[in-house]
Formats: sequence, C-alpha cells, structure tokens
Amino acid sequence: MGDRPMKKLWGGRFKKSMNSALKDFSYSLACDGELLGAEVKVNRAYAKMLTRIGLMSRAEMGRVLKGLELIEKKWTPKKLEALSGQYEDVHSFVQSELEKMAGSAARKIHTGRSRNDLVVTSTRIWLREKAAGAIVQIGEVQKALVFLATKADKIIFPGMTHLRKAQPVLMAHHLLAYVEMLQEDVSRLQDAMKRINVLGLGSAALAGSALPLDQKFLAKELGFQTITSNSMAATSDRSFLVEVVADLSILWMHLSRMAEDFILWNSEPFNLIELDDAFATGSSLMPQKKNPDIFELIRGRSGVVFGHLTALLTIQKGLPLCYNRDLQEDKPGVFDVFRKTRLALELLPQVLRTIAFKPESASAMLLDETLFATDMLEYLVRKKIAFSQAHEIVGKIVAYAQEKKKNLRTLELAEYRRFSGCFDESVYDLFNAEVSVRAKKTAGSTHPHAVWTEIGKWEKRLGR
Ligand code: ARG
Repeated sequence: MGDRPMKKLWGGRFKKSMNSALKDFSYSLACDGELLGAEVKVNRAYAKMLTRIGLMSRAEMGRVLKGLELIEKKWTPKKLEALSGQYEDVHSFVQSELEKMAGSAARKIHTGRSRNDLVVTSTRIWLREKAAGAIVQIGEVQKALVFLATKADKIIFPGMTHLRKAQPVLMAHHLLAYVEMLQEDVSRLQDAMKRINVLGLGSAALAGSALPLDQKFLAKELGFQTITSNSMAATSDRSFLVEVVADLSILWMHLSRMAEDFILWNSEPFNLIELDDAFATGSSLMPQKKNPDIFELIRGRSGVVFGHLTALLTIQKGLPLCYNRDLQEDKPGVFDVFRKTRLALELLPQVLRTIAFKPESASAMLLDETLFATDMLEYLVRKKIAFSQAHEIVGKIVAYAQEKKKNLRTLELAEYRRFSGCFDESVYDLFNAEVSVRAKKTAGSTHPHAVWTEIGKWEKRLGR
C-alpha cells in the first residue's frame, strides 16, 4: 500500500486489515474509475438533497460541492488507475478524497446510502451518456453509407443469395440495406433509454431507507424519468446492462456482416471496390498485398462483444437477491463493449467515404444471363402461365442451355417455344439489368426510383 490514507467505507467491524492478495483480487478502481464523472454528479445531487431534508447544513453542502469540483478538476479515470491498489473502488476513492477536501462535512455524504444503490445509479448515468454517444455515431456511419450509395450511382450488380448470383440489384440498394438495419439499432438504443433512466437511490442496501430521502428531487436533479418501485430489483438487477449490450451486439452483428460484404467486394474474384491506401494494410512478406484488415477486425471484434453479452447473462443467472459482489464483474465487459464500439464507429465513416467503386467489374458480373431467370419466370406469369408451371419451364430452359453449352441470350426463339408457346421475340429484352431493376414494383424494391427516393429520404433525415 502506498502513502495515501485509505478510507474504507466499512472498517469499524474489523480488527485486521485486508489480506493483500484479497485486495489484488477484489479491488476494482482500475476499472470502475471510469464512473468517476457520474459518481461526482450523483454526489452533487445527493448533497443538495440531504440539505433539503435537513440532514446536511448549507455550509456543509457548500464544502462538499466545492470538494466535488476539486475532485472533478484533479482526477480522471486514467489517473485513478495508478491508485488502483489503494482504494477498493471508485466510491471509496471519492469518499476519501472528499473527506480530505471537505473535511467532516464529507462524512455525511453517504447518509442513508449503500454502494449497492450508488453503483447502479452511477452506472445508469454513465450508460445513458455512452448510449446517446453511440446513437450519434451510428448516424455518422449511416450518413457515410448514404454518401457511398450516391457514389455508387447507377451501378447494378448481381445480388446474391447463398453467395451465388441471384438477381440484379442496385449497389446503392445493397448499401441502403445497412442504413436500414442501423436505424433499427438506433431505435433499439433509444427504446432502452426508458429502462436505463430509473432512479435506484433510496433503495439503500436492499430494503429502502428509514430516512426521509427525497427521491423525487434526486430523480429530477439527475434526469431520471422514473423512481424504482422495488428496492430489491433496483439494487440487484443489471438487465438494463444486458439490454444495451444486446443492442450493441446486434449493431456489431450488422457491422460484421457489412464488413464481410466489403471484404468480399475487395477480394480479387469480386474486385468491386478499391480501399483508400490510408485505410488498407500491407503484408510483411508479400509486397503486392493490400489488405482489408480494418473490416476483418470489425468482424473479429464482434465476437468479443458477443462474448461480453454472454458473460453478463451468465454472471447474473444464478444470483440470489439482492446484491452480490459478482455484480462487480458487470463493468469490465460493458466498458470494453463501449470502447470498441466508439472506436469502430469513429473509423467506419472515414473508411466508407473513401471507398472507390469499379463499375467495370460489376458489368462483367452481369454477363451471366441466368441472373434473369426470375425475370423470365415473371414474364411467363404475366402471360397467364401458373407460377409453379412457369418456374418449371424456366428451370428446364436453364438446364437445357447448360447442356447445350449455350447461354440464354443465344438460344433460338424456336428453342424457347419448344418449352412454351408463350415465348416471343420480347423474351430477349429481358437480358438487361436495367430492365430487370426497372421492372420491380413493390415497396422497398431495387427499382431505381425507389432507391433514389430512399436516398433522398435518408439525406433529409440524417443530413449529409
Ligand atoms: N464495486 C462494487 C460493484 O461494482 C460496488 C458495490 C459494492 N457493494 C458491496 N456491498 N460490497 O458492484
């Protein structure tokens, strides 16, 4: 232990000091120092509340508020890491520091409170700020995708199912699919806010308090929409963390899929995009390489994020009510998820905006006319052939062409008519990607007008 005096929040009952290995094992300041800002906010509101209800004098409150201001100026989570062997957690640190700065007045700050209702309050405040930040950042990724969609302009390429060419789509449509998915992620996070924004203070250790703590005032001061209806749930449930980490896991699942698409598009067989040099990486051996590591890291990190989600669920699943120290283990994973998310969301818009397209590769991929088989099926349906019969006919034509080593465009009309009398010259108009996408009629389709309308909608909604 260093030379700083350690202020324990619970020393009175003990005759011996803590075993040093247990200290190393249990102290959490190196991690939960991250909550410092939130902790100061909570203490500020708490001092005001205690003064309102007559348990702290105005002069004492003044000293406490001044002390909190000094703590805020002097300390950062980073600086607290250096003290991690000396304080049990951020709550003990703030208490000690406050007693140094505000003297005896500080001894009242923990009135009627337990770390059990304190930690959950600071965590909720921290979380809602970070979640709000993530929402803004997701918007920037969406904007960059919309920008990229405008850059993709009129490029049409084969949309895939099972990673096999399926039907022509606008590349812009493909990019907007991710904008859409990210919007759901935003709305999930926004929705979580009402469950994050619940005041747990006043719950004390588990049962509530016999002191006249003004929870309404605390809720208002700290911007909580509601006050808990159950002190036991408030001090022991961390489902609000599970929910947000689940929301971010879904976000990462989307980011990872998107990354995978860009990795494929960047691969030689697809050759659809070129990454900017500033966002690509080389090989220490193969001088020719220009690799998409950034997208691989996003794909890989998503796995770490999902791991944290599993950890959060597992940490809680067997805990009897109420607080158990196991719950301390909620924080490292949550902090890591947010750090990873912030870094990824900061980088992505920059990478996306600098991606260049290779339209010639897209055109080359469209030369395979089997891409138009579905258009041919719909052509026959419009000529009143039953869908499943038309499906069979076109399937047979595709197999026939393959057998004859011909492609659909070079089959004679007479050959087509052997499969159905409904074919006429107009069948050859189908082998055109532009015609294919323009034929689409449903809402949300890849029809260019629908796609441009969507781009306009997003630009208006997100800004450029
Ligand atoms: N560091 C603890 C946590 O993160 C704070 C609460 C400790 N409470 C207790 N009764 N030991 O959960």
